[in-house]
Order: sequence, then structure tokens, then C-alpha cells
Amino acid sequence: MRGPLRGFWAACGYLRVRVGGERVAVRAGILGTGAYVPEQVLTNFDLERRMNTSDEWIRTRTGIRERRIAREDQAASDLAFPAAEEALRVARIAAADLDGILVATTTPDHVFPSTAALLQRRLGAWNAWAFDMSAACSGFIYGLAVAASFVESGRARYVLVVGAEVLSRITDWEDRTTAVLFGDGAGAAVVGPVAEGGFLSFVLGADGGGADLLVLPAGGSRLPASHRTVEERQHFLKMNGREVFKFAVRIMAEASEEALRRAGLTKDDLDLLVPHQANLRIIDAAQERFQLSPEKVVVNLDRYGNMSAASTPVALHEAYRAGRLSPGNVVLLVAFGGGLTWAATVLLWSVPSPLRTGEFEAALARGKTEP
Ligand code: UT7
Repeated sequence: MRGPLRGFWAACGYLRVRVGGERVAVRAGILGTGAYVPEQVLTNFDLERRMNTSDEWIRTRTGIRERRIAREDQAASDLAFPAAEEALRVARIAAADLDGILVATTTPDHVFPSTAALLQRRLGAWNAWAFDMSAACSGFIYGLAVAASFVESGRARYVLVVGAEVLSRITDWEDRTTAVLFGDGAGAAVVGPVAEGGFLSFVLGADGGGADLLVLPAGGSRLPASHRTVEERQHFLKMNGREVFKFAVRIMAEASEEALRRAGLTKDDLDLLVPHQANLRIIDAAQERFQLSPEKVVVNLDRYGNMSAASTPVALHEAYRAGRLSPGNVVLLVAFGGGLTWAATVLLWSVPSPLRTGEFEAALARGKTEP
């Protein structure tokens, strides 16, 4: 941790709250992350062959080069499972120790039961409650906020938060204005009490006035599935890209600045920005505003496109795996999406540096789990 920040941290001390008469010292943080993307790659050139678009248009307007597509037999919980397993492994937490599981998704396996409940069964996390969250692309950060509140209130010790999406199932492959943007994947984080570091602030927001800008019209109680909804392609997402773009540029800056302010920090304290991966031009605008050098900004949309709730956790995990995060680093996660919704959090990174590939597995095999 850097000098001034160490002072700040010492000054604020750990949050102490009373729950049910018990005194609990808690600050929640991320204990481990994981990610999974399907193997099948769909490039811009593949899309050129399927619709009236070009690699050049997609790259220059969005920054996307390729995206991953789930196999036919893979649903959201199938992508969530390996990501969750990895997060538990990194955190060194057993599934049975989880108190809760929260899956942020717009593409759940079913309307019900929740994808979180399916994941609970698959993990054998029998002591965990489980529910899904619907906050579109902001869902993972919303989930972190809920998980942190459980931990800091003493109502839970370990909560698994997953962002998992199979957007290829709700993408209209006949609509070039949306089909080129999205991809499938899942990212996960274990949230629990930390001795040092953790979440310093959260900003969550919504503007239902913009609900029609990004919508999956049919399949809910408003427009249940019928021959007509299928014929009219109402089971595919619709977006007013230009309006969402304008909203995104504005809200990324506002939410980020507010999260930093609430944390008592400034943009100069930032070590890593992990933004939602919707459009490189939106990320560039944030980078410019905060005058950040490229190595302080995580970008992976060139390889995965927009994975909605999975974008930020996958980007965070990749940054961790690439050694771009050390304990004490100031990290800003920020996202926006359908609803409209937005969310940002500032945290001090608390996960030890990753072991080299295979090291942890080797240590486990030897019966030693300490690095
Ligand atoms: O995570 C959820 C939030 N979603 C987002 O953040 C998306 C935000 N929006 C965007 O990223 C951008 O608005 C888009 C990438 C969706 C569109 O970029 P744009 O620069 O706003 O393009 P546009 O919608 O203004 O369209 C420009 C032109 C149009 O042609 P005309 O009307 O000018 O002749 C489109 O028909 O580009 C055309 N176009 C395409 N051309 C080739 C639209 N999609 C394509 C395409 N290939 N795939």
C-alpha cells in the first residue's frame, strides 16, 4: 500500500458494527476471482459472411475483433460453474463454507428456478442461500454491493458473486446493429471479510425513464411467448445504441467520480480501472477524462465483445491472473446497462498475488495449501 493511502487506511480503521448484540469487526473485500469463456470463437470475419457488416466497421466503431459463443448444451449455470470453482480455489474457500450465492444475469437458465440455485446444487454449496439479480450489465457490481452488505452486517461470512451470460441466445443474428456486439462468458468473485483492503465505496443507480432503450420485449409476463412474439422476433434484445452510448459516456464519468469521492480518493490514487466492456470509444472517453495511462485500464472486449454482467468480473480476473493487481492497489470497477442502471465501486485489492500456473495445484497435491 502506498504511503498516503496507508495513512488514510489507518485513519478510517476497520468498520465496526453491532449486529444482534454481537460486536463484529468487518470490512468486506474480494478473496478470490475466477472466469470462464466458451471455446468457440466467432470473429468479425465470420460475421462478414453471415450479415451485411465488415471487420473494419466493427473494429473502428466498437473495438471488438471476436467473441465467444456457448455450445448448444451450455446454459448460464454451465458457464458460471467453472468460474465459481476457480474463484473458490483462488480464495481457498470450500463450497460448503459459502453462506450465499448471487448470480447476476440477463440470460438465466430458466425464469425460475434461479441460476444461483442451480449453481448451488452443482457446487454442493448446501449451506448457501441463492438468488439471481437482474441489473443487466451493472449486475456484477450490484451483486458485490449486496454481498459486501451481508458480510459487513455480519449476516454472512462468504458470498459468491457471479456474472454469467449466454447473450448469443437473445441476440438477433439478423440485426447487424446488435449482433456484432455481444458474447458469452462468466466471471466470479468470493466476497468475505478482509484484514486489510476491501471495498471503500459503492455507487448504485437506476433510471427507469430509459427502460425502453435496451430491452428484451417478450418472454416475461408483459408479452408471454406466443407464435406472434416468435414471428416478430420479440425474444431478441433491442437497443437504441446511440442513446445508450451517450448515457454510458456520461454515467461512467459521474459514477466513477462519485465512487472515488465517497472513498476519499482522487483519480491520481487509481492503480487500475476495470470498466464495463461495451465499446472501446466509451472506455477511451473514461481513460481520457481520468488521464490514465493505458496500462491502468483493463480492456478485453477485443477478444470477448460485450458480455453484460460477465464483462467486469472476467476483466478483473484476467487482470489478476496477468499480475496487474497487488494487495493495496486501488481498483475502480464501473458499469452501466439496461434498466437503465449503473454501478461503481472502489476497493483496495486484497487477494495475494497469483501463484504461477500449476503451483497451487502442485501445493494442493502435496497437501500444502499455503503459498
Ligand atoms: O452494455 C450494454 C450497453 N450497450 C452499449 O453500451 C452500446 C452503446 N452503443 C454503441 O456502442 C454504439 O452506439 C454502437 C456500436 C451500437 C453503434 O455505433 P454508432 O457509431 O453509434 O453507429 P450508429 O448506430 O450511429 O450507426 C452508424 C451507421 C448506420 O448507417 P447509416 O444510418 O449512417 O447509413 C448503421 O446502419 O452504421 C450502420 N451500422 C452498421 N454498419 C455495418 C450499424 N451497425 C452496423 C454493422 N455493420 N454491424
